Amino acid sequence: MRTKIVAGNWKMNKTLQETVTLINELKNLLNPHNNVEVIIAPPFVNLPKAVELLQDFPIKVAAQNMHFADSGAYTGEVSAGMLKAIGVDTVILGHSERRAYFNETADMLQKKAHKAYEKSMTNIFCVGEKLKEREAGKHFDVVESQIADALFQLPLQAYKKIVIAYEPVWAIGTGQTATPDQAQEMHRFIRETLAKKYGRDLANAIRILYGGSVKPGNAAEIFSKPDVDGGLIGGASLKAQDFNAIVEAAKS
Ligand code: 13P
Repeated sequence: MRTKIVAGNWKMNKTLQETVTLINELKNLLNPHNNVEVIIAPPFVNLPKAVELLQDFPIKVAAQNMHFADSGAYTGEVSAGMLKAIGVDTVILGHSERRAYFNETADMLQKKAHKAYEKSMTNIFCVGEKLKEREAGKHFDVVESQIADALFQLPLQAYKKIVIAYEPVWAIGTGQTATPDQAQEMHRFIRETLAKKYGRDLANAIRILYGGSVKPGNAAEIFSKPDVDGGLIGGASLKAQDFNAIVEAAKS
């Protein structure tokens, strides 16, 4: 049995004060359950406060990105060690917005994934094709190379702390979700890709999340698919009631 994960990627949203408000709302609403792990990823500056507010509450705090170096002349960047020092040991890597707007390359992501492994951080690794790639029938090839390029240099034991998030770019923030069958088809493909490289046990154990316009109204159906182990939620994670409803959908 794979425990489902519902993770909220807040992206560049919420001031410090708004972060406090949203976390307090979540603490009031959420009814923790052993069958679902809940994660939120606020912007860097609000991480220490989030960690403090969630010390005694079962919502984990993640970062949205990190650099691959330990320290040095990388203006504007944040290292794994800095995150760990404030109690954050989960990081989202390879989000399509980082790839598209900040030019994150396969080589950078390979280094970041390696750093997450070296530092024993949980790596929520995002993959997903663009609309043009799907229309050209290349979506499986694209996702397979994203995984192979960044993750296949890692040893099997690294995958204890890897979660894959399949986020088709055309479904992010567009209101257009992949159908539950499209999600299932790609999740199954990802599991098979990992099985070929690392074996069936690993493939059966790894969690694969779906992301892209998940809302309270469609979450239950998407999460009911056998290879969908929860969701990475953008817009709907910014409203406590919506996020709570999505967590509830993962319990059933
Ligand atoms: P939306 O849920 O807003 O489509 O965003 C998905 C996402 O990018 C989560 O990382």
